Amino acid sequence: MTGRKQGLARGLTNYGDADFSLYLRRSFAKSMGYSPEMLSRPVVGIAQSASGFNSCHRHFPELVEAVKRGVLAAGGLPLDFPTISLGEVFLNPTSMMFRNLMAMDVEEMIRAQPMDAVVLIGGCDKTVPALLMGAASADLPAVQLVGGPMLPMDHHGERLGACTDCRRFWAKFRAQEISDQDIAEVEGNLATTAGSCAVMGTASTMAGIAEALGMSLPGTAAIPAVHADRLRAAEASGRRAVAMIGTDLRPSRIITEGSVENALRVLLAIGGSTNALIHLTAIAGRVGVAVSLERLNKLSDETPILVDLKPTGSHYMSDLFAAGGIGAVMRELKPLLDLDCMTITGETLGERLSGAAPWIDRAIIRTLDQPFQNEGGLVALFGSLAPNGAILKRAAADPRLFEREGRAVVFSSLDDLAARIDAPDLDVTADDFLILQNAGPKSVYAMPEAGYLPIPAKLARAGVKDMVRISDARMSGTAYGTIVLHVSPEAAAGGPLALVESGDRIQLSVSDHRLDLLVDEAELARRRAGYRPASAVPERGYARLYRQSVLQAEKGCDFDFLRKA
Ligand code: FES
Repeated sequence: MTGRKQGLARGLTNYGDADFSLYLRRSFAKSMGYSPEMLSRPVVGIAQSASGFNSCHRHFPELVEAVKRGVLAAGGLPLDFPTISLGEVFLNPTSMMFRNLMAMDVEEMIRAQPMDAVVLIGGCDKTVPALLMGAASADLPAVQLVGGPMLPMDHHGERLGACTDCRRFWAKFRAQEISDQDIAEVEGNLATTAGSCAVMGTASTMAGIAEALGMSLPGTAAIPAVHADRLRAAEASGRRAVAMIGTDLRPSRIITEGSVENALRVLLAIGGSTNALIHLTAIAGRVGVAVSLERLNKLSDETPILVDLKPTGSHYMSDLFAAGGIGAVMRELKPLLDLDCMTITGETLGERLSGAAPWIDRAIIRTLDQPFQNEGGLVALFGSLAPNGAILKRAAADPRLFEREGRAVVFSSLDDLAARIDAPDLDVTADDFLILQNAGPKSVYAMPEAGYLPIPAKLARAGVKDMVRISDARMSGTAYGTIVLHVSPEAAAGGPLALVESGDRIQLSVSDHRLDLLVDEAELARRRAGYRPASAVPERGYARLYRQSVLQAEKGCDFDFLRKA
């Protein structure tokens, strides 16, 4: 009785008598009405993140049922368990602060509960990274199932979808181009189905990355949330998890240097989110793989953008699905990919991509020879203002602003920004650089998506659509503009960003990958001597653990004690 290591006999609760522990566990499991035959099966855990506070996951109960169907049909016992759920717009100060908490929850519950494999169901921005980080550390055979994107909605002769269009209409409203009634109508038509944001935002990028890593079934990343194929993908994920039990198809075999680089290529080719770079770095860090920003620049120079999707293009995720999905994109990228990487199906990536894509719509997915844009979407910048790097999503920025020197207009915090950005007497012109300090990982705001600083109202009303904006914050994957993010070291950690004062000159050169503060060293030394952190470490609770342990963006903002040495 004590020699079994599968199913409910795994990881027994310790009462000092293993046979008693198993007897007791079975007794309680029988209270749920399972037959002895069911209780003798291998167990597939289903980590699911449904919550009343997560609109993107409102269809998860149906997905869980479909996964269970697949597990049962393949001879396993499916047992679902809740995880923390991170609904992007429902969390304060930001979901980013809780990604690592969810990752710890996932890791520990996979490890603590008796399961032989696990299906991870997530969708909204931080949930898929947290699931993959936790599963990578627990290292049990795991299948990532994503919830899929929302459908866009027809409204007044155009399609709307969260959330690039959210920002576009809000900018019009701020510029007084549309009325209160107009914006209220738009509000009701941006997010109209279950699923994650309808464009190539962070959630969609992470779905693509999960498939590129080999952690999801092929062809599943872009299936809309409400499409019946999404349920079939769930059923197939359950079946696959049973087949992986007892094999070496663990995350540590799937997530490797090669597959991480493949995922970076896909991230660049789909014009993916800047946030996804942080998340991929964190996932890779869980298996000891480093992601270098210098390497990112090399890959970005040789990996063109292949898909025409918002926010870099004009289409939606449902269009990408109909056009051939991530599989079609990866087939185009084949000459650039490491095809020997193993995937959860037991095939190498080369085997997975060996057949031709059944259908490709070239209006959405372009070829390597005739790409949508010639260079990858992201570029890392280095210099005296960002010694450890910063990120610009050049694909969603205005190239006319790429090579210039500007005068800094500094906001010392988000509160300062909110108080002054629209002030009629703000000393600002369209040629200035807007600087936001103290919005990085260790700030009180915990690196929110605040890097998309609003254009000052008086400039917006004058027709200014874009300006150079620089911060240690993040930006929504659905946003656009000439926005330099993730400046590291951040201001709250005493980085050079903390020393910038209004009136300083800053040099940006995207072609040289440079971001420099043009202030002489003697003056910087004087300012450094007077530097004081903007806030103290919280006295208790998760906020204290977070502040003490969170790493900078180039380390994925993971906790120092969670990365693999
Ligand atoms: Fe959930 Fe965008 S708010 S994916």
